[in-house]
Amino acid sequence: MIELAPSILSADFAHLAQQVEGAVAGGGSVIHVDIMDGHFVPNLTIGPVVVKSLRKATRVPLDCHLMIENPDQYIPEFAEAGADWISVHQEACRHLNRTLHLIKSHECLAGVVLNPATPVETLSEVLDIVDYVLVMSVNPGFGAQKFIPGTLRKMKKLAEIRAARGYSYRIEVDGGVGLETVGDVVRAGAEILVAGNAVFGKGDPKANASALLEAARSASLQRV
Ligand code: DX5
Ligand code: ZN
Repeated sequence: MIELAPSILSADFAHLAQQVEGAVAGGGSVIHVDIMDGHFVPNLTIGPVVVKSLRKATRVPLDCHLMIENPDQYIPEFAEAGADWISVHQEACRHLNRTLHLIKSHECLAGVVLNPATPVETLSEVLDIVDYVLVMSVNPGFGAQKFIPGTLRKMKKLAEIRAARGYSYRIEVDGGVGLETVGDVVRAGAEILVAGNAVFGKGDPKANASALLEAARSASLQRV
């Protein structure tokens, strides 16, 4: 099933509840929340307090993408604040298996994220325990960057491995997803589509979300 996960990174934070409401009305079914610490990525965003407020503002699941060093230290707090899904970067976790179990112990779905330069093979020993794999299609840190086409291969590979080994993780894509690229990512196997700039960058979030989802659904019919 294709789902659209609007990323609030490009939203107007002074009107966050309203913006999220519009994106959900347009078909967004997961809200993607980008957490950056200024160390793992060269940018700073938000922490658990905003997640807590968002939790009150919407009923859809909150997908917290942790772009932070030492995620274990903050996972309990994000879960407590109302995160439903929590993903950590492969590159930030020395004990990835332990971290994924920590997420699950808080009754959240556990995801693992790959930077554009990190191969799928690095996840070989955890693919049986993750709920989703997030393929970064830009270098993390900022919204509105250009999609990196080489990352499509990783989405395809993840779909192939899942079929060959009988796993059940879902495939999420994040970065540069818009009307021009959504068809390619869906045909490559992505199922959860994060989009920030394409939903909140300009115009009406509801109309933008709905157009993007429509394009994604029609591309999914072209999958072999
Ligand atoms: C980038 C973030 C993304 C970002 C995507 O580091 O992880 O979630 O919001 O933004 P767009 O869709 O604008 O590329
Ligand atoms: Zn993200």
